[in-house]
Amino acid sequence: MGLKEIEDRFSVGVYQKRDLVIVRGEGARVWDDAGREYVDCVAGIGVANVGHCHPVVVAAIQAQAARLITCNELFYNDARGRCLEQLDRITPEGINRFFLCNSGTEAVEGAIKFARMATGRKRVVAAMRGYHGKTLGSLSATWERKYKEPFAPLVPDFSHVPYNHTAEFTAAIDDHTAAVILEPVQGEGGVRPATAEFLQAVRKACDDRGALLIIDEIQTGFGRTGRMFACEHFGVLPDIITMAKGIAGGVPMGAIGIDHRVGEIEKQSHTSTFGGNPLACAAAVAAIDALVDQELPRRAAETGAYFMECLRKMQSPRIREIRGLGLMIGVELKDKAGPVAQALMQAGVLVLLAGTTVLRFLPPLVITREQVDHVVAILATVLAAGPRAVAE
Ligand SMILES: Cc1ncc(COP(=O)(O)O)c(C=O)c1O
Repeated sequence: MGLKEIEDRFSVGVYQKRDLVIVRGEGARVWDDAGREYVDCVAGIGVANVGHCHPVVVAAIQAQAARLITCNELFYNDARGRCLEQLDRITPEGINRFFLCNSGTEAVEGAIKFARMATGRKRVVAAMRGYHGKTLGSLSATWERKYKEPFAPLVPDFSHVPYNHTAEFTAAIDDHTAAVILEPVQGEGGVRPATAEFLQAVRKACDDRGALLIIDEIQTGFGRTGRMFACEHFGVLPDIITMAKGIAGGVPMGAIGIDHRVGEIEKQSHTSTFGGNPLACAAAVAAIDALVDQELPRRAAETGAYFMECLRKMQSPRIREIRGLGLMIGVELKDKAGPVAQALMQAGVLVLLAGTTVLRFLPPLVITREQVDHVVAILATVLAAGPRAVAE
């Protein structure tokens, strides 16, 4: 059996796979099994922020793997200690204690539990078009019906209110609200940045009504939007922040950061066998060092602005809107985005979708201007070829 046949035969098949076997990566490029090169604006879905196989991350993983791979939080560990210090250094003001886990959805699960425990309340207010993961708790906060309906009943007491609709959203926060959970830029929901007015009003409503604000920075964090965390653009501080994706240079890891309002977390109330493992922690220390030393948030802001400017200059009649922040960019088309993504792949550029009409670009933050020029030129060619030029 070929590589693709093996995956198709033995995996449960929940992923909508593209016809490509990726075997190697470096910076903002990946290669397939035939040695063909691609500019990667997928980056593992916004994971490889420091670039694929960053040498500092690779060296840290190799050194840690040779020393100690596993060590549960029953014990203290040197790599974990350094990782916690790093997180404290880069996370928004006030966030100073962390729970380490293994994925984004797990961070959201823990955040919801901590908020309920801290407030003694049950209700969670989330946004329409929001995405927070697919395990049962985080799925309850996620908006998209098709992900949820087959698994009902989900966790009760979650409500969804339109994003960026300040009056309606703040009216939904009351004395029974444990937490509000929001992405500062909605990713899966179509790359939609919040307005500062909206986020600031939600922050104030949470303060007035004793609710906690969970900012989900799983996709927006670690430099993606041009600041270390996207909430910094809006002058809004979270009570709880959820992190994953870019945290450890590609190694699976998630984290929850909490501020003093969350109070004491009861012992054993939330644990994870792999949480805080030395391998992921060493990778995170290296990835965060790389983000800071190479000033990757600033670079994301500059390259992202350049990328958006090039896209705007393209003036394709097939584009409805270009949105984004830093290197989190959405191009909403007037027709289906799937065939365009497929044609881009055939031309050597990998992009994501966000819904049926939005192309989403989440490249490594080390992508060069030349690589951006290449991506934009190929997109222009593909769009000019017209909707019928590529097979659905
Ligand atoms: C904002 C946000 N929250 C949560 C998640 C879930 O993360 P994971 O896929 O690691 O469970 C994602 C994943 O795309 C995300 O973008």
